[in-house]
Amino acid sequence: MKDHVLDVDEKSYWGPYYSYFPALARYIPMGEYVRRVRPTACVLGASDGKFALPLLRAGWKVVAVETDALFLNGGEFDLVDGHHEVVGLRDRLAAEGLAEDCTIVEQDYMTLPASGEFQLVLGSGLWSMPPNRAHTLEALIHHAMDMVAPRGIFFGEYLIGLNDEERTCGYYPPREEMDRIVDRPGWQLFENADLGIRGESHLGYEEWHYHRYAAAIVHRMPLPTTPESTP
Ligand SMILES: C[S@@+](CC[C@H](N)C(=O)[O-])C[C@H]1O[C@@H](n2cnc3c(N)ncnc32)[C@H](O)[C@@H]1O
Repeated sequence: MKDHVLDVDEKSYWGPYYSYFPALARYIPMGEYVRRVRPTACVLGASDGKFALPLLRAGWKVVAVETDALFLNGGEFDLVDGHHEVVGLRDRLAAEGLAEDCTIVEQDYMTLPASGEFQLVLGSGLWSMPPNRAHTLEALIHHAMDMVAPRGIFFGEYLIGLNDEERTCGYYPPREEMDRIVDRPGWQLFENADLGIRGESHLGYEEWHYHRYAAAIVHRMPLPTTPESTP
């Protein structure tokens, strides 16, 4: 069952940072089913392909939504831990011959229609970013969930507050608050896991700091069948 292993792309700038993404292999179509059915995933905040590339390699089609041109087109920057060269998503797709299966949407995902068309919608580490503060966390999560097709999966990796500023701002919810946000008619919570505290330093937050990671995996249930639609 090696075919059913899913891991982040380690060569992405964000590759070394923790993610619960590999757990998705237990829930989403993989292997021969994907190669034949070609489901589509929407990656919110796709960056340079940490999640998009492994999904594409597994046979998924991907819509990659990202507002930051640096991670789409590539570039360089210096941080306390040295010089970084980012190969943008566009070049990385071209290098692997995957460009045809990936549609890049250079737009804020909150401006996209949420019409239930994707078999998988995922986002990680983006909900608390400044531009998203124009919306409540609940609105951000519900919009992403509404992009999921019936029988599809929403994967939302988020951070739980560790200090007073994070606890009061509304974008680092306790696990129970995420339970409440994703508890909607027609949805079934598969997991809402507290994944523990990790230390890190990265673009946008160079000082060594700690994040408490968590992830919600939620299933959009099939639409109820009417007596006429059953054979
Ligand atoms: C911190 S990075 C994380 C990258 C990677 N997803 C990960 O988890 O390691 C989050 C990315 O989401 C993008 N992003 C944040 N809010 C967004 C939005 N509303 N629409 C599209 N992209 C967004 C940012 O530009 C950034 O590249």
